Amino acid sequence: MGLRKLVAGNWKMHGLSSDLDEVRTIAAAARDYPGVDVALCVPAILIERAARAVSGFAIGGQDVHQAEKGAHTGCTSALMLLDAGASLTIVGHSERRDAQRESDEQVKAKAEAALSVGLVVILCVGESLEVRESGRAVETVRSQLDGSLPETPNGEAELAIAYEPIWAIGTGKIPTMGEIAEMHASIRRTVVKRYGSPGAGMRILYGGSVKASNAAEIFAIADVDGALVGGASLKAADFMPIVAAAAASLP
Ligand code: PGA
Repeated sequence: MGLRKLVAGNWKMHGLSSDLDEVRTIAAAARDYPGVDVALCVPAILIERAARAVSGFAIGGQDVHQAEKGAHTGCTSALMLLDAGASLTIVGHSERRDAQRESDEQVKAKAEAALSVGLVVILCVGESLEVRESGRAVETVRSQLDGSLPETPNGEAELAIAYEPIWAIGTGKIPTMGEIAEMHASIRRTVVKRYGSPGAGMRILYGGSVKASNAAEIFAIADVDGALVGGASLKAADFMPIVAAAAASLP
């Protein structure tokens, strides 16, 4: 409780040169909320242009390869992200865990690779609808964390966790506030057990259909230290009210 809020947008496979004006608008508007950390994770190919367009504003990647370099066609290394101007990256998003069959072990290696070059990492976990309905959501997320948390919460850069129930992503459905509270409390216990006091300072974001109309309620939950926002991060008009809700939730 009481950690500075982080609101990160995940643009997924959206974003062309013509959208850089939207990046500029969001970055400029974010200056009105100095108490909130705001970031946009854009497609890899847009990172450099976005970072140049908005110096001082955090631009991130959406994935990273675990190797330093080598024969990995189509992949982007942590140093490449950094070199392009990124200061953070998402790892383990469910769309990659599912479609690219990424394992916990790979996600862990990716997180370690990114942290080692000084990139802030947002590590995603979350259960399917089937798991939620079977009553095993908390234990499933705990097991994802056990498998994908990096060995150490690196001192070079911050590690944040994003709890994103798969069935809430892009669907307009969200868990009950009680379910979010239960999961975030469980994640907090897991990271404190794993890392000790750095776990207490680790930000735990909620993601999945966050929008202006539900953000205030979600940010009021203990151990919700921000949000990872997909669809509603594409336009400043949708995204900034979420940032404003994060600012309003500060003590
Ligand atoms: P959404 O996506 O906000 O569009 O549900 C969230 C995410 O996948 O990070």
